[in-house]
Amino acid sequence: MAKLKSLAKHQKKSVLNKAIDFFIKSIYHAYFVGGYVRDTTLGLKPVDIDIVVEGNAVKAAKALNLKLKGKLCIYEEFGTASIITEAERIDLASARVEKYSSPAKLPHVYPSTIIEDLNRRDFTINAMVMSISKEDFGEIFDPFNGLKDIKKGLIRVLHKNSFNDDPTRIFRALRYKNRFGFKIEKKTKILMKEAIDKRMIQQLSGQRILNEIKLIFSEKKYQETIKDLSDLLIYKIKKKDLELLPLLGPNRIYLYLSKLDTDGFPLKTEEREIMQDLNKIGSTISRLEKASTNSTICNILSPISDQIIEIIPLIRQELKGKINTYSKLKKIKPFVKGNDLKKLGVRQNRKFKNLLRKMLDLQLDKNIKSKKEAIQYLRNMKIHE
Ligand code: CTP
Repeated sequence: MAKLKSLAKHQKKSVLNKAIDFFIKSIYHAYFVGGYVRDTTLGLKPVDIDIVVEGNAVKAAKALNLKLKGKLCIYEEFGTASIITEAERIDLASARVEKYSSPAKLPHVYPSTIIEDLNRRDFTINAMVMSISKEDFGEIFDPFNGLKDIKKGLIRVLHKNSFNDDPTRIFRALRYKNRFGFKIEKKTKILMKEAIDKRMIQQLSGQRILNEIKLIFSEKKYQETIKDLSDLLIYKIKKKDLELLPLLGPNRIYLYLSKLDTDGFPLKTEEREIMQDLNKIGSTISRLEKASTNSTICNILSPISDQIIEIIPLIRQELKGKINTYSKLKKIKPFVKGNDLKKLGVRQNRKFKNLLRKMLDLQLDKNIKSKKEAIQYLRNMKIHE
């Protein structure tokens, strides 16, 4: 506790310090909560600052923001507010209990005290508060022995219904396990498997599942979490795809998504296109390996987006030459354009498009070397007959 006290006290005159000053002098009883207390205890720099206020968090946020002068976002129906400054984001919530209308649905909110607020949380390591009020500044309230679990390196739920109340906690547990190198406590693991067997994840909306998958991929240890999910028979992934992920940079999530049933996921059209391209990257690579002419290389690669093409040499180094060739070939201007075909009396139908492509192929493979030669070739074909 002493460590936390000094940590919080010795911060530079930062947003955090201004917030602490504000609460020490204010009438509000407030606490750091969740990840902030966990990460500070672990000696890590917390990503978010979460504050829970006994009383009206929205009013407290408005008053605090007069000092911080950040962007204030208010979510009146949840009794929460966020202050976004250049350096930090502070989330403020009123201490509350939640009643779940039915499993996996978003909860209703009722005002209540800090103990009840902690009762609704996911894991013991996230269910601690540190006071930022004058009377007991720096005191940690840890009703579920979160500090002990941090020492032991354990992820433990607070009660047996935790995963049913909120199945996203299955993803969260695995994420924390791998982020901190912790273990999932024995009973928690059994409860997690029971929730998986009861198909609780399938009750979540596509949006919530997608959020969790994005969070997994934002972590350094994403591969371990993806493997854990697969081992638990949630979203099975083949070993070769798992090994491919690190090569794909920011697009790796799309290869993963391309292996899942994403019908209910709110993905943008471009995202779906990247997924499709990545899904067939294996066959694209093997076709490219066999390609021996310029035109074949172009026909294989032209329907594929540039960002996926860039990945190919990372997967198969030997294809770097063919990718470089393609970069040059795609800049070549065709000798024959649509207007030329019209002038020769060709009607605009499917044949028209095929003919344009055929002429470009001949040009790319250097079978035709000038526009004049191309037109002569078309005349000899008697194309409009
Ligand atoms: N929480 C919860 N159940 C969830 C999501 C969140 O109980 N399904 C609680 C936890 O107490 C958590 C807090 O809300 O600590 C804030 O959630 P979030 O911002 O997602 O997590 P952090 O603790 O800030 O951790 P992270 O570093 O992963 O962001």
